[in-house]
Amino acid sequence: MKVDVLLGLQWGDEGKGKVVDVLTPRYNIVARFQGGPNAGHTLEFEGKHYVLRSIPSGIFQRGQVNVIGNGVVLDPVLFMEEAQDLEKSGVDLKRILKISRKAHLILPTHRLLDAANERLKGDRKVGTTGKGIGPTYTDKISRNGLRVGDIAENFEQKYLVAKQRHIALLNALGGQTDVTELEARWMQGIDYLKQFDIIDSEFFINKQLAEGKSVLCEGAQGTMLDIDFGSYPFVTSSNTICAGACAGLGVAPRMIGEVFGIFKAYCTRVGAGPFPTELFDETGAEIRRIGHEYGAVTGRERRCGWIDLVALRYTIMLNGVTQLIMMKSDVLDGFDTIKACDAYEVGGKVTRDFPFSIEGDIKPIYTELPGWKSDMTHLTSEDQFPKAFSDYIDFLEQKLGVPITIVSVGPDRQQTILRAR
Ligand code: GDP
Ligand code: IMO
Ligand code: MG
Repeated sequence: MKVDVLLGLQWGDEGKGKVVDVLTPRYNIVARFQGGPNAGHTLEFEGKHYVLRSIPSGIFQRGQVNVIGNGVVLDPVLFMEEAQDLEKSGVDLKRILKISRKAHLILPTHRLLDAANERLKGDRKVGTTGKGIGPTYTDKISRNGLRVGDIAENFEQKYLVAKQRHIALLNALGGQTDVTELEARWMQGIDYLKQFDIIDSEFFINKQLAEGKSVLCEGAQGTMLDIDFGSYPFVTSSNTICAGACAGLGVAPRMIGEVFGIFKAYCTRVGAGPFPTELFDETGAEIRRIGHEYGAVTGRERRCGWIDLVALRYTIMLNGVTQLIMMKSDVLDGFDTIKACDAYEVGGKVTRDFPFSIEGDIKPIYTELPGWKSDMTHLTSEDQFPKAFSDYIDFLEQKLGVPITIVSVGPDRQQTILRAR
């Protein structure tokens, strides 16, 4: 069997959690492959609302195994809080969740380092989620990290070495160094983690595949936040692209099947960094209000703008997207016209290719399309789409060269329309 991958094509928060939940019944295993509690994946069904951060979004469907892969960075405290909430709502988590031995641990001092790094950057700060993501991946790459598998043996000693290193760094950076309270809670988290099935997830997944089982990989963040290809340095610290699923789970590239690329009918970004189609006017505020565009983790206002097809063509290419999923179409229900950026004007020259940098003098060139001016939130099949909306889909498919196979018209599991191919 092949491994399918679902990932964000913009700056995150595209609606990955919702769609993973919807697609889970088709799979045996759902696996996260990168990122950590910087993610906030929202699921809504039967009047309930959940935000998942480290735990895969396949957790609410029945029968599937969920895996936290080696590419993920795990904060034991946030994991414990998230898991205990789920257990309170009746999810038998210890039975259905497996965690890779090779996933790296976020230490309390990683969060302090994240804060200190951001402070030092001044007006070039990234606007991170403050969860210690960057420093944890930095330690992984510089071969100083602690992994979930380290808990099993001589852990206190390993922790002490890492902590002392971090304290020295924090002293040099002028950061907070008192970790007594944070540390006590963190150790509780470590104890809690021991109750879970800690596995060699690369063996587990490959064995399941050999036995004919199917896997859905759930991306976090979005391709425009990828460490290599995103709007560097205003990015996260992992490879959010499809290749990240291979490295973050130990599956070979030839095992990748469908690649679901997910995007909003418009565009948002949270945190700092360039955003060519950002709207600073009433229209941007209107999209934010109707789309409830506030961060699921930090509550921060999301910056809003029109869809950017230059960026989408780039991210579709990087991921080898085979199917597109368009989210939050209903948010545009009331607009007279919809704009889509199909090219940039950079230093007086028009380009349809994504440039090295999108900071500075970038002017989006828009195509304006008529709005559909009708409520789509109750629609159940594509033959009910208003004509102007079908035209918007045709326009996007033609510009992007990949079919849009799923359209979302509201946050609930049921507000999802599968299109014939
Ligand atoms: P993720 O990080 O990609 O999983 O996305 P988030 O959960 O951070 O943000 C998506 C937000 O949009 C959540 O509040 C969802 O409940 C909501 N949402 C998802 N799909 C739709 C949709 O089609 N329409 C509307 N109005 N809201 C949606
Ligand atoms: P999901 O999975 C949106 C952004 C932060 C910041 C930058 C770096 O819910 O789509 P980090 O804490 O990762 O070092 O922050 O990346 N960011 C996200 N933006 N959705 C996310 O996750 C994000 N995870 C990180 O706002 O700009
Ligand atoms: Mg999110």
